[in-house]
Amino acid sequence: MARITAGVATSHVPLLGVAHDQGKERDAYFGPIFAGYDWTRDWEKAEQPDVVILVYNDHASAFDMKIIPTFAIGCGERYRPADEGWGPRPVPDVIGHPDLAWHIAQSLILDEFDMTIINEMDVDHGLTVPLSMMFGKVDAWPVRVIPLAVNVVTYPPPSGNRCWALGEAIARAVASFPEDLNVQVWGTGGMSHQLQGQRAGLINRDWDNRFMDGMIGESDHLRHIPHIEYLRETGSEGIELVMWLIMRGSLGAATRLLHRHYHVPCSNTAIGHIVLAPATPSNGD
Ligand code: DHB
Ligand code: FE
Repeated sequence: MARITAGVATSHVPLLGVAHDQGKERDAYFGPIFAGYDWTRDWEKAEQPDVVILVYNDHASAFDMKIIPTFAIGCGERYRPADEGWGPRPVPDVIGHPDLAWHIAQSLILDEFDMTIINEMDVDHGLTVPLSMMFGKVDAWPVRVIPLAVNVVTYPPPSGNRCWALGEAIARAVASFPEDLNVQVWGTGGMSHQLQGQRAGLINRDWDNRFMDGMIGESDHLRHIPHIEYLRETGSEGIELVMWLIMRGSLGAATRLLHRHYHVPCSNTAIGHIVLAPATPSNGD
């Protein structure tokens, strides 16, 4: 049986991809940021997940105003790094897991989540930066990846509660896949940041840290944070944090903290990273 063994959340700031690709991971500015991922890089090597369900948002790379899926799942064989204006990042193609992805798509849709199914797309920094942070420079990514794209770019994004429920449904889907697979769910984006307008550069350390506290143990209250609170407290792009709740929902009623890191600044952004395990191994049943 496939099992969700852990959840990882991380910011996906594009500047981290640039620092990584240009070998600046240990310089004075980026050193403290990348050091926060050292523990996770070692842990991932030991854990050897087979598949990561990577919850992320596309930033007008694969989708634009013509088509805006609220929830989309990648069922393809492979995905190329997107050209976001400076050429594609020099990182490996992302290899999918079509059998598990189609199984999850079927299970979610029969569970009444109306997923968009994607067989072909390029993946941008929202997906490739977390892979670089977790696995470093590699010739091939050491996991299969099922991209799960969420609209947090154009209003209205899905509610935190709906994201959590989707995470629960993903856990049910994974638990009903017969092959023995070690599966992780990652939620990306955040933390507080606003990239434009009068409040550009907004960062809210207290709110971010309370949100991270809330991910540990029983986190039910996080489901009910309204969009307007994300907007007011974490800036216009802080709404990306609803994606962390898909990961959190997939881990069951309570979690154990394995690792946590928070740093300001990174570009105009606060970055946060947390690694969680389900408190009870029977989640998804
Ligand atoms: C930036 C872009 C992002 O998508 C994000 O989540 C954080 C920061 C940026 O352009 O700096
Ligand atoms: Fe983003």
